[in-house]
Amino acid sequence: MCGIVGYAGDRACEKILVTGLKNLEYRGYDSAGIAVFEGDKIKTVKAKGEIDKGLVPRLDAEGPLRALAGIGHTRWATHGEPSDINAHPIGNARITIVHNGIIENYRKIKEFLISKGYSFESQTDTETVAKLLDYNYNGDPIETIAMTAAQLEGAYSLGIIFREHKNKIFAVRKESPLVVGKGRGEMFIASDITAILEYTNQYFLPEAGEIAEIDKNGVTFYDIHKNVIEKELQTAEWDKTAAQKGGYEHFMLKEIHEQPVALKNTLSPRIDEQGIPSFDECGLTDEMLRSYKNIYVVGCGSAMHAGMVGKYVIEEMARTPVIVDIASEFRYRNPLITKDDLMIVISQSGETADTLAALKYGNEIGADTLAAVNVAGSHIDREAKMSMKTLAGPEISVCSTKAYMVQCAFMYMFALRLSYARGKIDLAKCREYTDKLLHIPDLIQICIDRKAQYQRVASKLMNASSLLYIGRGLDYALSMEGSLKLKEISYIHSESYAGGELKHGTISLIDEDMPVIAVATQTRLFPKTAANVEEVKSRGAKVIVVCRDSAVVHDEITDYIIRLPETDDILMPLVAAVPLQMLAYYTALDRQCSIDKPRNLAKSVTVE
Ligand code: AGP
Ligand code: GLU
Repeated sequence: MCGIVGYAGDRACEKILVTGLKNLEYRGYDSAGIAVFEGDKIKTVKAKGEIDKGLVPRLDAEGPLRALAGIGHTRWATHGEPSDINAHPIGNARITIVHNGIIENYRKIKEFLISKGYSFESQTDTETVAKLLDYNYNGDPIETIAMTAAQLEGAYSLGIIFREHKNKIFAVRKESPLVVGKGRGEMFIASDITAILEYTNQYFLPEAGEIAEIDKNGVTFYDIHKNVIEKELQTAEWDKTAAQKGGYEHFMLKEIHEQPVALKNTLSPRIDEQGIPSFDECGLTDEMLRSYKNIYVVGCGSAMHAGMVGKYVIEEMARTPVIVDIASEFRYRNPLITKDDLMIVISQSGETADTLAALKYGNEIGADTLAAVNVAGSHIDREAKMSMKTLAGPEISVCSTKAYMVQCAFMYMFALRLSYARGKIDLAKCREYTDKLLHIPDLIQICIDRKAQYQRVASKLMNASSLLYIGRGLDYALSMEGSLKLKEISYIHSESYAGGELKHGTISLIDEDMPVIAVATQTRLFPKTAANVEEVKSRGAKVIVVCRDSAVVHDEITDYIIRLPETDDILMPLVAAVPLQMLAYYTALDRQCSIDKPRNLAKSVTVE
């Protein structure tokens, strides 16, 4: 949620801050602002709305600010509506801050500060931090920040500037992400490295509670006792083009097209000399795989849906119990996880607060924890006992596509290795499945090339107000993801439903205004799903069947067919995901929705 940037150097910082914020706008975009050192003052310019519609016109009206250091923020509101006054940066003439996260004890702090004579203009929790820093300020920024941080409960990454410390930026974090970028004669802070890749790929990762003091010459890290901390400089593997559109109209379309490569990059380096998946790189051995009683899989949204696909595959192949949990539910249901279990957490950003909290719960229980994350150095990447990167490259569109694909691929690799380690499949069978898995990128490319069929169906869906995705087995698991794709970017209500369950109530919704998308890729379940299609067709539904090239579909029971290239049933979700992604994309396009930045959403939900 939200994007933070900061700059200290010899260049005019205004444009650098705005560029950084635009690179982070996928993280939150209901308002934006910057605060810079202008003369001996702090100048703040901020506005409700997306950067180009709010902040930029405000800055144009101000004229050049000629500042060499400052901070910026693009907001995803948690406390207080999107508005000019609630936009960040927030503070006063002496101290101004930007904040990502939620301060859980802000009401108590606010009451205390009001009792000390402070007044508040905004409805945000962030303003209490700014005013508490002011209350604690003793002329020493490090001491002031240490004292204030000790009083805060909740999640935060803070960029802070003090008028009396011109052209310096300070930063501190707990739970929320932040990197300190190192350029040539200039320094940066950012919520993630993609914001500043065009300036540098070198960065430091502050740990919770470490305070960074930054100016154009470099950064000094302190602990809360003002001891200097030495930190290792990291180098991002991504280059700046990876985080740009590359000629596509939207990041989402680019990232859909990147799926064949993303899969190859994620799979190939993990195939060992036997020709089967290996988890050596993260220290997960066959002996460990044989020892686990249950496999818990935890994530949010698409990541959780990848876990659902994994559940079906693992239980079918390895005959090992898999419990999939929505991360925000997991630790509040008093789960039965024990130290004899393995917990897999799936996360593209590696910063999702719900998933991170579930991971910490698993660690506290003493379970082995394995992260499948796309962002190296992210919180979840560092918190898990074992971690394997899904090598999709940066995913910018809020709507996850290639990340979901490689998360599923990770689950397939895990299922294959677990099944082999437990003797449920022999080396030859494992190698056979692995070879078919390595062939999936070619099938995905065929699906991408068949875009005309998705465009045709999308034009028929665009005016729907609600629709159903149905499927059985792996098709049901996949339909969850198809439904989420459509909802989050086209704003058409939809839900996924087990095909066999429809007749137990939900079929009452069916009429000629309720399109039904039947995902029917599982050969052995096809007749059952076909029967469900007849049930809804006979009640007037417009039916779209997503099925194999070879499937026999009777015209009288379906209005549109989306056909897929074929592979084993168990691998078909990887293939069928693409049509569902592209159907959502083209429907949203027809409805002229904001594809990469859907309303109310953010790419990384770093608050609970
Ligand atoms: C998927 O399209 C959404 N962007 C969302 O459901 C996302 O998958 C979820 O918020 C989890 O994010 P993560 O993978 O970064 O943890
Ligand atoms: N909680 C703060 C607010 O509502 C920060 C939200 C964010 O992370 O963007 O302003």
